[in-house]
Amino acid sequence: MAGAMLAFSGAKVWAKDADARIEVLLDEPLGEISPNIYGQFTEHIGGVIYDGVWVGEGSKIPNDHGIRSQLVAMMKQIHVPVIRWPGGCFADSYDWKDGIGEPSKRPRRTNFWEVDRDAVRLHEKGLQIFESNAFGTNEFVRFCRLTEAQPYLAANLRSLSALDFDRWVEYCNSPAGSTTLAELRANAGYPEPFNVRYWGVGNESWGCGGNFTPEQYASEFRRYTDWIPSYGIDLQLIGSGPNGNDIDWTHRFFEQIYSGHTYNNPSFTGWSVHHYASNLSRGKTTDWIAAKGDALQFDSVDWYELLRECNRIEQIIQDQWSVMGQYDTHHRVKLVVDEYGPWYREGTELDPTHIFGQQVTVRDALATALTLDTFNRNPEKVRMATCAQLINNLNALFLAHEEHFIATPNFHVFAMYAAHQGGQALRTEFSAPDVQYTRDDKPARFWGLNGSASRKGEIVTLTIVNPGLSRTMETQIALRGSTIARVSGTVLASSDMHAHNSFDQPNAVMPATLPVALGGGLINVSIPPASVARLDVFLG
Ligand code: AHR
Repeated sequence: MAGAMLAFSGAKVWAKDADARIEVLLDEPLGEISPNIYGQFTEHIGGVIYDGVWVGEGSKIPNDHGIRSQLVAMMKQIHVPVIRWPGGCFADSYDWKDGIGEPSKRPRRTNFWEVDRDAVRLHEKGLQIFESNAFGTNEFVRFCRLTEAQPYLAANLRSLSALDFDRWVEYCNSPAGSTTLAELRANAGYPEPFNVRYWGVGNESWGCGGNFTPEQYASEFRRYTDWIPSYGIDLQLIGSGPNGNDIDWTHRFFEQIYSGHTYNNPSFTGWSVHHYASNLSRGKTTDWIAAKGDALQFDSVDWYELLRECNRIEQIIQDQWSVMGQYDTHHRVKLVVDEYGPWYREGTELDPTHIFGQQVTVRDALATALTLDTFNRNPEKVRMATCAQLINNLNALFLAHEEHFIATPNFHVFAMYAAHQGGQALRTEFSAPDVQYTRDDKPARFWGLNGSASRKGEIVTLTIVNPGLSRTMETQIALRGSTIARVSGTVLASSDMHAHNSFDQPNAVMPATLPVALGGGLINVSIPPASVARLDVFLG
């Protein structure tokens, strides 16, 4: 790039010595970015609900009816639009009836995760994993209302009947005074319906959600979703999609649904996709445990490997969309990426009870940012996404234990990206030299800069990831189709690739002001290595 001279858009001319250039094309809108792609996921696993969201009504930790107040306040800062609950795999073991009614009378059950390999160490310490059901549907809806998010409930298709699904919808949505379940809801203090729109129909039905074949799952999906009561609500039903980019699962499910005896339920609008960056072995093994990397102990090759694995989401979106379009030719069904993030081996959780708890470094912040940028660039395909998981779990935004509470670098990414919610995505061209490095004695590359842009009125939000560990990218940015009145910048970066926040150092990774300059109609900015940047560009 250096040395090149390129004229464009009338008088503006790229500098000779810039490393990178970005062109935002205001006249090429891609569609509205659904706010719902900035959603969060909460499951009854380890420390997510208990110790994370729920501290209990009698707790000395500040709470609102048992819900951790600090968490609520920070979620409101990032405008969380939707929260998925109660799982995950837990959803297909959960009886929603256990979690309603007088809390002291609710049954205690064995939690799904009791049999997980990670739970073994808890047994060794004499602890058991029981579900108290202190946090149920009412408490979850209260949590959503406090955070101003929409509830997204995952129904149990493996171990409850289709009638139970109907009845959960009835409990949540039947009008005040109309049914016995509406009265039960009223007895708990909620006479008015919850009006839950988003319903997942099972979870990972190819695995923990029933171990179905796609044909079997399609048949169950028809049975569970036909004629469920709607109470005038525009229900959105989300099918349990593939494991990663399993094309076969999607082909065979959609074939069953759309061919022959066609399924015509207009409420089927979402197809769930899960993508975890869990295999960091560089192709050496597919063993679930051995393939994992470490959240804190990694070298520069591991850094790029994690980003490369997360970046596969782009291909997954394109491939799944193309298969779905072969059957659902009008693309009524959109993608719902309701679990994503890095998944490391155990060892960095902040408390032994936090199954799948892991530390979150600046590397994970970049992984989250490039994933959100990918969603932003595909606004017509991806309509919802929920990060796995909100607190004390894989790709957490928060870590908490008892009275201790911190935001991770991921929280700061969500804060920086919140401005994209509801914006008009804009096609944006990134030109930057690839990062080059050596991976197992062979030359390897990863893109040098990438990101996304959106417009709301006269403000353009541009987010950029610089994955390179050593190179500051001297970058010039042009907006085609308007002039720039002013611009400001924010950056999340650290010179230490392992940097993370902890209870002792809660602000080790924090956003800072990024200096930007305007000249000749272009924006000039130095984007530091290993960083996520956001520019707010005011048109006029
Ligand atoms: O997020 C942890 C688990 O990962 C979820 O319960 C499951 O859906 C997935 O396999």
